[in-house]
Order: sequence, then structure tokens, then C-alpha cells
Amino acid sequence: MYTLGIETSCDETSIAVLKNLEVLSNVTISSLKAHKKYGGVVPEIATRAHLKNIDRVLKAALEKAALELKDIDLIAATHRPGLIGSLMVGLNFAKGLSLALGRPFIGVNHLHGHFFSSFLNYQYKVKVPFLGLVVSGGHTNIYEVRDIDKPRLIGSTQDDACGEALDKVAKAYGLGYPGGPVIDKLFRPEYKNEFQFRCGKKGLDLSFSGIKTALVYKKNELESGGKKLTNSLKRKILSSFQFSLVEVIVKTIIEACRRKSINRVSCGGGVVANSFLRQRLEEEGRKNKISFMIPSLEYTQDNGAMVAGLGFYLYNKKRLVSKLSLAAEAS
Ligand code: KG4
Ligand code: ZN
Repeated sequence: MYTLGIETSCDETSIAVLKNLEVLSNVTISSLKAHKKYGGVVPEIATRAHLKNIDRVLKAALEKAALELKDIDLIAATHRPGLIGSLMVGLNFAKGLSLALGRPFIGVNHLHGHFFSSFLNYQYKVKVPFLGLVVSGGHTNIYEVRDIDKPRLIGSTQDDACGEALDKVAKAYGLGYPGGPVIDKLFRPEYKNEFQFRCGKKGLDLSFSGIKTALVYKKNELESGGKKLTNSLKRKILSSFQFSLVEVIVKTIIEACRRKSINRVSCGGGVVANSFLRQRLEEEGRKNKISFMIPSLEYTQDNGAMVAGLGFYLYNKKRLVSKLSLAAEAS
């Protein structure tokens, strides 16, 4: 069965073609460059970029899969959460295709798509129960998944998302946007305790806004004390910062596994590209006998393949479809 997956919730226009769970193509055009000078995604720019690019992304995805539109059996698209204008472009495009081709349509939740990424290309077996860990620019969520169409949110950030904190701190330190990959490169484990920064944690809920503010204060304090913020000092500060973020996430997901007596965790979201987080999940997984299912790098960022994969699963195993009246929802 061939599924087309359309993802436009933020700044990536991404369309994939899957044969069951095998990815035949996954083509993405990002409007990231256009947002860089603003230090974050500008919704209006993102919407216009989706409108401009979606046709050629579809064409390239079909070409790469060596298929034509008439070969597609199911059309899946992200309908929530995300930037409302961006969501509407992909969702309406999908509905139009569904009507024109006479094929079923299914709307999927972007965040559930993230934790489904590790099942693409049969990297890991789709088997419940498991916990879903989603760490992205907009969300930091833990789900208990006993039924893939009904994940239960059991932990979440109470304020900023982890990726958002990375992006905002990087911006304050003059390192551009997005901040996660830059801080990932700067990170050196020997500086992990050079400064003491703490994330908030209450049970399975987290908080990243306090640590973000502490980092901004630290910069102001150093500069007003006449200290030059050299690259080496930035590296020390940001290594301590990243260490604290990663450790709280690892600690919390292990606690969630214990509480729920579940030892499989499917991870996803842009921050799961972080090399130190991947390393720590693997280390702690071995130590605690937890299997962390970590997707390959290309499927950590927003992508059409995760949307197609989840859509295929819900249609094929759960017999679910969506009405064409399904609305885009920002949150
Ligand atoms: O999942 P995603 O592509 O978009 C959302 O749904 O939000 O995640 C984007 C986030 C950004 O905050 C970005 O800084 C972060 O993922 N990110 C990283 C890395 N690559 C991207 N964070 C840490 N380390 C990375 N290597
Ligand atoms: Zn995402």
C-alpha cells in the first residue's frame, strides 16, 4: 500500500511516499534561511513558503519514489499542532488530492508522528506498550502508549519547550537560529559542571524557562562585571547548560518507565538529533534495561515520512479515516 504524507506544521514543507512502512522518498524544503535574521520562525513567511514550494515538493517526492499520483492509496497530513497558516496549506492540499483522486484521507497529530519515526523502515517493531518521548522546538512531552491511536500525555514542560530554550539561549549568546545544533557542536563533556544550572522538575513535568533566564542573567552579569565573553567561556557556559537539559530529560524518562513498568521508549523530535542526548539515552538504556528506540537523524526533524507512517498504521491497523471537514488546530 502506498501512502503520501504531508507535513507543513512549521517551517518545513515535507512530503514522503511510503510503501507500507518503507520510505520510498522523503523530500523537504525548509524556509529556515528566511527566518534566520528574525531569530525564530515568522508565521507569515512560513505560510507563504509552503504555498510556493508544496507543488514541487510533491513532484520531487513522486519522482523519487518512481510513482504517479494515481498509484497513491492513502493521503495523510498533519492537522495539529503547529502554526495555523502553515497547517492549513498542507491540510487543504491533502484534502484536495484526496477529493481529486478519490482516495481516503487521514489527519494525524504531528507529535504522535515524531514518536512514530523510529518505526519507519522497520528500524524498530511497532509493538505496544511503549512510552513516547517527544523533544522538539515547540514541545517536550512524555506519552504512555498502550494503543497507538490513543496516546496518553503523562508528562510535559510547564513553560518553554527544551528546543525553545536552546534556541532562545543561543540567540542571547549571539549564536543565531536554530540554537540546538550550534550548542550541540560547542558541547564538551569536560565542562559539564563548570557552571551550575538547574532545570525545573516536578514528577514527570519539566520546566525550562528558569534555566533559560539564568543563562541570560549569567551573560549580563559577566558582561557588566567587565568580563569578556570569549568563545572558550561561551563553550563552558553552554556545555553546562546542555548537560543540565539532557540529564533532566534522561532522568525523567527513566522515572516514567519505572512508574509505568514499561521498558521501551520511542523517541522523536528535533532535539533527539542531539549527539549527547542520544549517547546518554543509549548508556542509561543499557544500565537500566530500557530499550530507547532512536530514529535515524533524518527522521528526527520535521518530515513527511513520520506523517505517512503513522497515517498508514492508523488506516491499516485501526481502520481510521478522517472527514474532509477535519480542521487545522494550532494547539
Ligand atoms: O521537531 P523540530 O524539527 O520542530 C518542531 O516540531 O519544533 O525541532 C526543532 C528544534 C529546534 O529547537 C532546534 O534547535 C532543535 O530542534 N535541534 C536540536 C538539534 N538539531 C535541532 N537541538 C539539539 N541538538 C541538535 N543537534
Ligand atoms: Zn516537530
